[in-house]
Amino acid sequence: MSHFSYRNGVLHAESLALSEIAQRFGTPTYVYSKAALLENFAAYADACKKHGRATAENALVCYSVKSNSNLAVLNLLAKQGSGFDIVSGGELLRVLAAGGDPRKVIFSGVGKSREEMQLALSHDILCFNVESAAELKRLNDVAGELGKRAPISLRVNPNVDAKTHPYISTGLKENKFGVAFDEALAIYRSAAILPHIAVVGIDCHIGSQLLDDAPLLEALDKLIELIDTLEDEGIAIHHLDIGGGIGINYNDDQPVAVGDYLGRLFARIDAWRAARHAGKAIAVLFEPGRSIVGNAGVLLTEVQYLKHSPDKNFAIVDAAMNDLMRPAMYEAWHGVQTVKQDGADVRTYDVVGPVCESGDWLARARELALAEGDLLAILSAGAYGMTMSSNYNTRGRSAEVMVDGDQAHLVREREQAAQLFALEKLLP
Ligand code: LLP
Repeated sequence: MSHFSYRNGVLHAESLALSEIAQRFGTPTYVYSKAALLENFAAYADACKKHGRATAENALVCYSVKSNSNLAVLNLLAKQGSGFDIVSGGELLRVLAAGGDPRKVIFSGVGKSREEMQLALSHDILCFNVESAAELKRLNDVAGELGKRAPISLRVNPNVDAKTHPYISTGLKENKFGVAFDEALAIYRSAAILPHIAVVGIDCHIGSQLLDDAPLLEALDKLIELIDTLEDEGIAIHHLDIGGGIGINYNDDQPVAVGDYLGRLFARIDAWRAARHAGKAIAVLFEPGRSIVGNAGVLLTEVQYLKHSPDKNFAIVDAAMNDLMRPAMYEAWHGVQTVKQDGADVRTYDVVGPVCESGDWLARARELALAEGDLLAILSAGAYGMTMSSNYNTRGRSAEVMVDGDQAHLVREREQAAQLFALEKLLP
């Protein structure tokens, strides 16, 4: 069920009119629905329970912080028992500030620094997802200096085609992520004898915005094959991390339902464990981002000017590529809805921002009835919206508001220009 819908001709977030939010907090503003977030998280948690995995030791959802890292979002999910997938020391500090449990944190990323390793080790995180032999060596050294053993998974690149946008596909052998499937065994062997490394799991993440789960199940089969080989060699694997990647509906997309995907995944895992491991369970980890937060947010913006040229109609709005990068970066399609439904003069518009780049567009060739001052909602903007935003053109980042029923909570203030150059200094 969508938590953004028209009531009496006005688009609402849950029970609150978006026009009221614009009036109170201004625009551009990211607006999130708490109910949508909880519902999306529950799709994972409920499927885990349904398939006999009721505790964090059996199945753990590690929400991918990079998709939306607002403290209120992280705190809400932490309270549901969520773990977190991080890719920087900064994200770890956010998770801690939001009340997240470091023992439910997994640390991905190809370029972890020594300082980031130290920070994560000092908080006893659940696992490092190691992406190269060089990183493994460094992690062993850093853990040794701290007198610790670092728990690790190798991020294995299963070389399956996720059939998604090339910029967000990560599981092919030409991608920079993970270690090649054929090299994984040798690296595991070396990890198993390093004094400050504890092999605990195996990991992959093949890409993002996947509409079909077939590539994920194919990746699972490759991981299963490797786990059996490792266990034959006496290297025990306690958890299997299948990554994130389930897509959402942007433009008549029909992503697989989370419950169906998890059902198929657990069925395969259970059949394998029964056949090869006398039914002994293995913990399963997930790293979803977009499927939890993507459709739980919109970007609310106001039409500043309408510009009609002989070839094109432009709606110039107060949000721009610095607020929502996805169209400029991936030619991503986001739905656009007017907050008030009553416009009569329908024309074909490009919705563009004030930034001085031709690439600064949010939507192209949309049939809209617009007047100056109208409010628009850019849909499905909850994931990789605010987190990818920038201050280009010295534009302060948007405010963020979370709606709960008919209440709106400001969860991030709008940035003011003076804050943007506060760290800068003149020459002496
Ligand atoms: N785990 C790892 C290791 C990842 O790299 C990612 C996303 C995720 C989990 C979460 O994937 P999700 O469930 O959200 O698909 N900026 C792009 C998406 C980049 C995804 C990067 N990795 C976009 O706006 O579409």
